[in-house]
Amino acid sequence: MMPSLETFWNTGGTLLAALAGARYDARMTADYSDRNPELGSLYAAHLAEVMARHDDALEKSGAAHLVVFSGCPTYAFLDDNTYPFRANPHFVSWAPLTALPLSYIVYTPGETPVLVYYQPKDYWHVVPGAPSGYWTNSFDIRVVHESEAAAEHLPAERDKCILVGEIHDDAHAFGIERVNPSTTMNLLHYARGQKTPYELACMRLASRRGVSGHRAAEGAFRDGASEFAIHQAYCQAVSHADNELPYNNIIALNEHGAVLHYTDLERQAPDESRSFLIDAGAQVHGYACDITRTYSKEDGRFADLVQRMDVLQQAITDDIRAGVDYRDLQIKTHALIGEVLVETELASGSAESLIGSGVTSAFFPHGLGHLLGIQVHDVGGFMENESGTTIDPPSGHPFLRLTRELLEDMVLTVEPGLYVIDMLLDNLRGTAAEHQVNWDTVAWLRPYGGVRIEDNVRVLADGVENFTRDAFAL
Ligand code: GLY
Ligand code: MN
Ligand code: MN
Repeated sequence: MMPSLETFWNTGGTLLAALAGARYDARMTADYSDRNPELGSLYAAHLAEVMARHDDALEKSGAAHLVVFSGCPTYAFLDDNTYPFRANPHFVSWAPLTALPLSYIVYTPGETPVLVYYQPKDYWHVVPGAPSGYWTNSFDIRVVHESEAAAEHLPAERDKCILVGEIHDDAHAFGIERVNPSTTMNLLHYARGQKTPYELACMRLASRRGVSGHRAAEGAFRDGASEFAIHQAYCQAVSHADNELPYNNIIALNEHGAVLHYTDLERQAPDESRSFLIDAGAQVHGYACDITRTYSKEDGRFADLVQRMDVLQQAITDDIRAGVDYRDLQIKTHALIGEVLVETELASGSAESLIGSGVTSAFFPHGLGHLLGIQVHDVGGFMENESGTTIDPPSGHPFLRLTRELLEDMVLTVEPGLYVIDMLLDNLRGTAAEHQVNWDTVAWLRPYGGVRIEDNVRVLADGVENFTRDAFAL
């Protein structure tokens, strides 16, 4: 049995290198901890940028202090078990504290930010340990053992505070009445579109982590594993429990690839694993990757289609640079999908006529991509400016989540797809489109589900840095 990748990283790769008889390759190590020296060296500048954004937001909102609440665990109905905790993404943008409920960051421009760090006295659960890591020197940390004790660390003038966070219980607001005001939130959300060098480094690492899982999952697929077993191989490789994944893994064999958000995990392996669509992410300090690959068991027609979609995906990616309108790329993708449909004999006619008749939308019914960051579908994708004006998706493309102009250091996904979704294809029957579709070829493709290829790219002035392909190339 191979050692887990976690073990591998912790031992500097020597164990696996010894097993494989291979020379140790430093590029394969990755430190995801909050002791990573590269992240440590970038963090101070990141925090300075976060503070500058908040200085601006507070001034424009007419407030003197910002209080960010990390969040409160939520109990299931009639139960004493909580749902998995997801920290307020604003809290995570200040410090890599993804698992610290009932805590607060208190910021007054010009002063060192205060972190009210809730460490309950509790012998039932593991409580957060003593603060440690590269981020600790940047805060005035006040450890409290009772949640009510946070009150004394908040600014006395509550009417001059803005609170950012999800408040289910007024007690957690400690009398602050301005909660998530739209002026402030719009400013912060717009700014979050562009990532700092620290955030980019976290996301590069998240991509490497995710790719390690994708490799393990591909291997399990080729060994004939069930979806459930593939998922376990993935989680083992990235060293995430399910709750730590940035979104529910899509592990889809055969026809299941046509369900866009297929998250059932079939326990039984199918008799024949023809195709495998995996859309699975990982995170580092709360920053996500969101990667999709599609594999064919055999060479041949489906493998060729996967290859063709990979070419299409890279052609679209080649058009990305600062200043581009992503809506134009969504529309261009439909033209390219039209060409693929004709080439592969799934449909006939011009690409233009296939768009007009709704054929391309039936095969590719989702958006080309979205902003990525602390949230997989990161905030701010529709924002025209920081005052909250939004830009609608183009007509006929309601699921596109990224309509704002691309700026340098945005991170986004590029994820064209092509599927046999009978619910959508059936809508074409009785219309002009029915005769454009080659139903025999559709019947051939149906048992394979579909194809999606999804990369995560950083926008540059003249192109992209492709986190996903870089990680696969390591
Ligand atoms: N994994 C969800 C998405 O690709 O948007
Ligand atoms: Mn995805
Ligand atoms: Mn995505």
